[in-house]
Amino acid sequence: MENLEQMLVSSWCDVQSTVPNSYVHPPENRPGKFIVASSRAIPVVDLGGHDQANSTVQQILKACEEYGFFQVINHGVSEDLMEESMNVFKEFHGMPSMEKVRECSKDPNRSCKLYTSGENYTKDSLHYWKDALTHHCHPLDKYMKYWPEKPTRYREIVGKYTIEVGKLGLQILKMLCEGLGISTEYFNGSLSENPVLLVNHYPPCPDPSLTLGVGKHRDPSLITILLQDEDGLQVFKDGEWISIQPITNAFVVNVGLVLQIISNGRLLGAEHRVVTNSSIARTTAAYFIYPSNESFIEPSKELIINGSNQPLYKSISFGDFRGNFFYKGPKVELDLQK
Ligand code: OGA
Ligand code: NI
Repeated sequence: MENLEQMLVSSWCDVQSTVPNSYVHPPENRPGKFIVASSRAIPVVDLGGHDQANSTVQQILKACEEYGFFQVINHGVSEDLMEESMNVFKEFHGMPSMEKVRECSKDPNRSCKLYTSGENYTKDSLHYWKDALTHHCHPLDKYMKYWPEKPTRYREIVGKYTIEVGKLGLQILKMLCEGLGISTEYFNGSLSENPVLLVNHYPPCPDPSLTLGVGKHRDPSLITILLQDEDGLQVFKDGEWISIQPITNAFVVNVGLVLQIISNGRLLGAEHRVVTNSSIARTTAAYFIYPSNESFIEPSKELIINGSNQPLYKSISFGDFRGNFFYKGPKVELDLQK
């Protein structure tokens, strides 16, 4: 690999007053091409309600059917832990490039790694305005030893954080099972066994109208749980981009393509992107719930038998899905269809 230290956006953006050519996106993909619907918002679901469990399930189900996105409040994850985690994520990305590279190079199998733009910087001719730290989270005793040791609190705080967010993720998946009418155990075990944390960092950009932090995509997960404290994330719905405004102490939850397949198209793996801004660095943490590579993903048999519908997608191992299909971009659904 070329010199990662020098490729990181955060290592050169301070001394660069214009956007380098390889970060300038074609006009049709630039922010501003589509209307940003400032008056629209994704649903907010309160998980702390007492005796209305059933209506909470219905709210989550409806949000996942209509938007593929919602925010959760009163979700049970400690607010102090959320704040401490965000601080430690920001501190990590604020360290000198050399230290970031060193702290993410402990595992030869690269279960913890630092990268910039997309994961394929050297192959891509067009780049995204972001740096990222990513690592596996489960089981902790297998992976934590490869996580950064600087900031010194990283392992302790992020270890707790991934446990708490993981529990929340399983709770949401269980509620979706109830809503869909499939076994509430469906996602326990191998289907949710392989969570990964992605700590994104989008430095300020001299001209946000030309660049993207992340291009339009669907996540290859069951669900993704995002911590954010600045705006920049947008979801594509009905031909418009809707901005997802941060709510203090809330998480943004979205449906990934794997859950779209398992729900036989009923839940929407929604398309989203990240735009940049010229004034402040934005840091986010996405917790992706992934199956193990060996598990098969396919429309739930309960949905097919209980309903009168036909399966819309073929059965495929998660490993093949990630390797062969995900990187095909928007065409992916056609390839998966029966
Ligand atoms: C992602 C993603 C959103 C954000 O990492 O897949 O969509 O706001 N991130 O960082
Ligand atoms: Ni995403």
